[in-house]
Amino acid sequence: MLDKLQALESAALADLQSAQNEAALQEWKVKFLGRSAELSRILDELRGLPKEQRPAVGRRANEVKGALERAYQGRLEGARSAALDRTLREDRLDVTLPGATFPLGRLHPATQTLRQIYRIWAEMGFQVYRSPDVETEEHNFELLNMPAHHPARDMWDTFYTVDPGVLLRTHTSPGQIRVMRERAPEPIRVILPGMCYRYEQVSPRSEVQFNQVEGLAVGRNITFADLKGTLTAFARRFFGQAVNTRFRAAYFPFTEPSAEMDVECFVCGGEGCPVCKRTGWLEILGSGMVHPIVLQNGGYDPQQYSGFAFGMGPERITMLKHGIDDIRGFWANDLRFLEQF
Ligand code: DAH
Repeated sequence: MLDKLQALESAALADLQSAQNEAALQEWKVKFLGRSAELSRILDELRGLPKEQRPAVGRRANEVKGALERAYQGRLEGARSAALDRTLREDRLDVTLPGATFPLGRLHPATQTLRQIYRIWAEMGFQVYRSPDVETEEHNFELLNMPAHHPARDMWDTFYTVDPGVLLRTHTSPGQIRVMRERAPEPIRVILPGMCYRYEQVSPRSEVQFNQVEGLAVGRNITFADLKGTLTAFARRFFGQAVNTRFRAAYFPFTEPSAEMDVECFVCGGEGCPVCKRTGWLEILGSGMVHPIVLQNGGYDPQQYSGFAFGMGPERITMLKHGIDDIRGFWANDLRFLEQF
């Protein structure tokens, strides 16, 4: 029996030498150490041996089992590290190659300006109020003191819909009527941002759609000084504390008196350059004291209430700020333009 074990050990170890990879090693393990391997059978049959043979055969059988297991483990580790060496040698990895880039989105330049405008007005106590893009002719013109055939309607080239009296708003001013009718007789401090639409020939200077931010303050003692002070405070927060501003008389049917506000050209510092068309000033908004007829249309008694309003164009302000000379970039969705902001 002991000889048989000896022969078994030698045969198994010799066989192990020819197993070259993990699969072959696995096969070898089943054959020599598995349940139905000869060694297992010998161990199972120990009990059937004469009593005096049992200890020696048992010890020897366990020795052989241990030896085979150790030899197997050694070969297995060898095979694994050989396989790893081979992959390291054959699969080249160039760690200097550039990694995959993940394109990052960003806010549209008009959105960036809009948010900056919201924040400043919020700090000054103005709420955001939304009003519809699709408006009635009545809100867009009539109630803003422009009856049908009023020549001032020519200031806005309008997209009319097939429904009579329904149009795409040409400015955010109709929102003034909507807030006033909702809030009267409470005091009001709101901004009304949103998209406006005009039937324009698209060119570097005009687009068919653009944003406006309307503002409206209504109360019992609001004066033109409040208008000037508030708009100047806005300009300082937006363009910097040192900015110079001026008001020029203007005309809008819904305000009286009306004024446009200019900021000193920040490109040339007021010297005169192509951006400010050599005037030294840049127009940034229209404004005025709310016309008594408009207050009345909104449900406020013009004898007791007054207010100021303004309207600014974020795209225009963004163009001035960044020296953009073509408004079409805002809606062309060209990443080469958008990525610059
Ligand atoms: N709605 C005017 C426009 O589209 C801008 C404007 C001017 C708004 C004066 C106002 C204002 O509220 O008081 O050009």
